[in-house]
Amino acid sequence: MPLAFSPLIAYNLGMKKEKFRLGGGTALITGASSGIGKELANILIKEYGMTVIAVARSMEKLASVKDALHAENPLFGTRFLPLCADISLRQNWAEVKRFVEGRGEKLTLFVSNAGVLPPFSSEKERGITAPEVMEKTVQTNLFASVYGVETLRPFMKKSGGVAIISSSSALCTMPGIAAYASSKTALKAYAETLVAERSFAYVGLMLPGFTKTDVMRNQNAASGGLIDKISTSADKMARKIVKAIAKRKRRKILGADSKAMYLLSRIFPRSAPQIIGWVLKKSGYALFDAVFK
Ligand SMILES: NC(=O)c1ccc[n+]([C@@H]2O[C@H](COP(=O)([O-])OP(=O)(O)OC[C@H]3O[C@@H](n4cnc5c(N)ncnc54)[C@H](OP(=O)(O)O)[C@@H]3O)[C@@H](O)[C@H]2O)c1
Repeated sequence: MPLAFSPLIAYNLGMKKEKFRLGGGTALITGASSGIGKELANILIKEYGMTVIAVARSMEKLASVKDALHAENPLFGTRFLPLCADISLRQNWAEVKRFVEGRGEKLTLFVSNAGVLPPFSSEKERGITAPEVMEKTVQTNLFASVYGVETLRPFMKKSGGVAIISSSSALCTMPGIAAYASSKTALKAYAETLVAERSFAYVGLMLPGFTKTDVMRNQNAASGGLIDKISTSADKMARKIVKAIAKRKRRKILGADSKAMYLLSRIFPRSAPQIIGWVLKKSGYALFDAVFK
């Protein structure tokens, strides 16, 4: 064993904590009313016997997820606990705290998943609204994780884990996504810091690529074409995430497109975003009209 590694091993042994194991107990998932978060809740409830505190803004969407679970098996329905809150605002985490505290049971897992993708647009085009878009996006995609960790830490089991859902845009940006990529890159750094600090028994950073969900709902055109072809289904992406959490992966790049973006950014660190921009421009997607006009 090379001598240079011994301080690292000593550091790791010194910081040894209880081991995180996925299964049983309660998880709290933000953004569990649709897309990846909803599928994560489904898998954890049905296959891992967990109870899920499902947080989102729309009680209607949460209720329909609960109804579907109940229709399949009443036990699944009782394990899905909807909680309506806008988690981008720090004061709203007081409600989350009350809810978790009221249950009197510590959490096994916190999945910080809720996120928003503003319409693709160049900063030049977006003009005066750019700072507002940036603020709202960063509040939801970055600060909500920070508020979540702060609020939930006292309610986590000693063996509890945290999974943070960033994005491939944190590996390589592209034209039109300044707010989204900035928020997800900062989130990646935040999660990596928690990993390095061994802040919880387990911390995992997930970097998914395009996934078929409602995340494109704010765009001015449908995605279609190549993006739809390379997108992973929400169920498949959630399965990959659960597998990574179960294996206590500290960092996982998920989806072929996400891996390709990572490789491109390693091979062409300076020009990768321009290369992607060139491909998107040539593709003539209506989705990117406000980026390239
Ligand atoms: N889809 C992709 O291609 C892709 C790729 C990489 C990373 N991701 C990331 O994966 C995560 C899940 O996204 P998704 O694709 O599953 O999108 P989605 O279907 O739009 O789901 C987003 C979820 O977040 C909730 N949410 C949004 N803002 C919220 C707020 N302020 N407070 C509470 N809940 C809020 C939404 O519910 P309400 O509207 O009811 O609040 C919804 O449940 C996001 O962090 C996203 O950035 C997605």
